[in-house]
Amino acid sequence: MILENVKKSVDYIRKQTDFIPDISVTLGSGLGHFVNAVEAVATIDYKDIPGFFPPTVEGHGGRLVLGQLGDKNVALLQGRVHYYEGHSMAEVVHPTRVVGMLGAQTMVITNSAGGLNKDIQPGTFMVLRDQVNMTGENPLRGPNVAELGVRFPDMSEPFDHKLSDQLEGILKEKQVPYFNGTYFGVQGPTYETAAEVKLFGEMGGGAVGMSTVPEVIAAKHMGKKVVGISCITNLGTGLSSEALTHDDVKAVASRVESQFSDFLAQFIKSL
Ligand code: HPA
Repeated sequence: MILENVKKSVDYIRKQTDFIPDISVTLGSGLGHFVNAVEAVATIDYKDIPGFFPPTVEGHGGRLVLGQLGDKNVALLQGRVHYYEGHSMAEVVHPTRVVGMLGAQTMVITNSAGGLNKDIQPGTFMVLRDQVNMTGENPLRGPNVAELGVRFPDMSEPFDHKLSDQLEGILKEKQVPYFNGTYFGVQGPTYETAAEVKLFGEMGGGAVGMSTVPEVIAAKHMGKKVVGISCITNLGTGLSSEALTHDDVKAVASRVESQFSDFLAQFIKSL
């Protein structure tokens, strides 16, 4: 079923274009304007692609954009669906598998996330160096799809060391405030309690969010190289006196969106 569904999406896209991406970019909440950096060859609404679901969350577009960035062929997933929206894990990782099967060997996965210690400034970025799956789920549960990957994928390097170093080099050069750390992935849709934020911080977390972890697992299953970047839109619950709202998260992401587009474009061109 999983493989057939992925192939159905790939076949539909292949009927529109024979473009082969080398790199995919998954754009998180409020970070969708990066599509403007790309010279589009084909733009397809998720609602038209069999097996894709339009995102229900405000701040997430719902389009696959295939095009050129410098001399790189990229596939942009503008918007994603989340487990908390009610989708199965297979549905959550479906677009990742599709761009992988279209040809992307390197996957850049972005998100908005909450910072797990009080020294972090909202509006800064975190380069993901590892992840902790706190969702209680795994997209690979069930019969292994051997055409996609092995039963027991190695997770010793969820985020490619060399490419993450390269991204950090660009952030330094451009003087973009950032740090690196471990991303804790939760189900949501509730924001964390103060006790959860304290626990994740003490366990070594840098940021917490409601996406990314399943996508990274599916990408690694397929043997892809992954780079992860979080826009830290807020401090985790209890680290500041403010209550969290999605509007605030979107507002901070859009404040740094042009900076984000700028360094991401340079990074992709450098790959
Ligand atoms: N927690 C979880 N997800 C998030 C947060 C947060 O604080 N901010 C943006 N996405």
